[in-house]
Amino acid sequence: MKLVIPNKKYKESFLSAIKGYKKLKNKSTQDKEYAEMFGMSDKEFDNYIQTIKDEANGINLKPGYSSSITYWLIDNEEYIGTIRLRPNITKKQAENFGHVGYDVRPNKRKMGYGTNMLELLFKKAEKLGLKQICISCYTDNIPSKKNNR
Ligand SMILES: CC(C)(COP(=O)(O)OP(=O)(O)OC[C@H]1O[C@@H](n2cnc3c(N)ncnc32)[C@H](O)[C@@H]1OP(=O)(O)O)[C@@H](O)C(=O)NCCC(=O)NCCS
Repeated sequence: MKLVIPNKKYKESFLSAIKGYKKLKNKSTQDKEYAEMFGMSDKEFDNYIQTIKDEANGINLKPGYSSSITYWLIDNEEYIGTIRLRPNITKKQAENFGHVGYDVRPNKRKMGYGTNMLELLFKKAEKLGLKQICISCYTDNIPSKKNNR
């Protein structure tokens, strides 16, 4: 199991995960946000990958936004989930929305991947010199609360 920078090698697997998001019934608040974030990534995959690269390099950021590094969790050469690290946010921003955003594709949840993905991300964050990570979640997000214990 590994975290990789998003790339075309996992395109088909990623696109099938996005379909899963679209089909998901009873989406949580966070699921709706993530579904929206993936937006047109299926129709404009190459642009999506470029945007992710730009965000990591601090290019074309929306006003008030800071750089955000996106990784994909891959297991057995299959796309499992996405995790984003915002290493340069202020303390206040960290308290408001946290350093990390992550999601596991709907058909791979409750299998331990969320926990594994966070553990791998912590190692990356440590290498980047981050000593503390803030993760925030909605109070009704039970799986995320458990992940963040
Ligand atoms: C939050 C999320 C990433 C968890 O991923 P996951 O792979 O299912 O998590 P894990 O399998 O590692 O499970 C972690 C814990 O949550 C529990 N859990 C997972 N889904 C659950 C659910 N729907 N209801 C209750 N508990 C749940 C697991 O049993 C496990 O508990 P344990 O450690 O006591 O055994 C996933 O549900 C998701 O993608 N949600 C939508 C996006 C989101 O909310 N992201 C978090 C932003 S802060």
